Amino acid sequence: MTEPSSYLRTTADAYDAIAVLYADLFRNALDAFPLDRAVLAAFAELARTRGPGPVAELGCGPGTVTAHLRDLGLDILGVDLSPVMIDLAREAHPDLRFEVGSMDALDLADGELNGIVSWYSVIHTPPRELPSYFAEFRRVLAPGGHLLLAFFESEGEPVTAFDHKVTTAFRWPIDELAGLAGEFGFAEVGRMLREPHEDERFRRGHLLMRGEK
Ligand SMILES: C[S@@+](CC[C@H](N)C(=O)[O-])C[C@H]1O[C@@H](n2cnc3c(N)ncnc32)[C@H](O)[C@@H]1O
Repeated sequence: MTEPSSYLRTTADAYDAIAVLYADLFRNALDAFPLDRAVLAAFAELARTRGPGPVAELGCGPGTVTAHLRDLGLDILGVDLSPVMIDLAREAHPDLRFEVGSMDALDLADGELNGIVSWYSVIHTPPRELPSYFAEFRRVLAPGGHLLLAFFESEGEPVTAFDHKVTTAFRWPIDELAGLAGEFGFAEVGRMLREPHEDERFRRGHLLMRGEK
């Protein structure tokens, strides 16, 4: 068995350490953001229209967004690097399936998923590693399935590392992230930029993409 990359260990340890606080702070995180909910609703409608089949929230943390997607009618499972996050998610949502794992090496069959949501979870991935994430998303997503990404947008700057409260994170130019995903067969369906709320630091980017058929 190969050792996980050191950034994965750092990320898992950092989220293990703050998982309880994180779950408390962000339990109702979607309530104040109708645009975020609108993007998730659009994704859910597209996934439902394709028919039955599991959808995954990759980097699900305590499962808040996973449960929101369940409430939107999806057959959803959650995967996260942090075992403590997964314990909290299972405790809060015993009806849902949650697994410890990394998004770049999923224990899922080719084409198994009907859709993928990565909600602020590729933000800690060093840019040089991100291509392998898109390759894995492409592998596990059924042809024509949708991928929804939420991330911090770089507001005219190149890809920029910043001092995220948990561990180093990266802000991406939305065009560059869309272009990188495009290299792995994801075609942009739409995008949403949301300006930061008064207690947020950065513009939020959302990309809805479809895997090629
Ligand atoms: C900012 S939190 C977002 C959690 C959740 N999506 C939400 O919005 O509440 C980022 C999460 O991504 C997870 N994560 C980061 N890199 C990951 C990877 N390579 N594979 C799986 N999970 C990862 C972290 O452990 C953490 O729980």
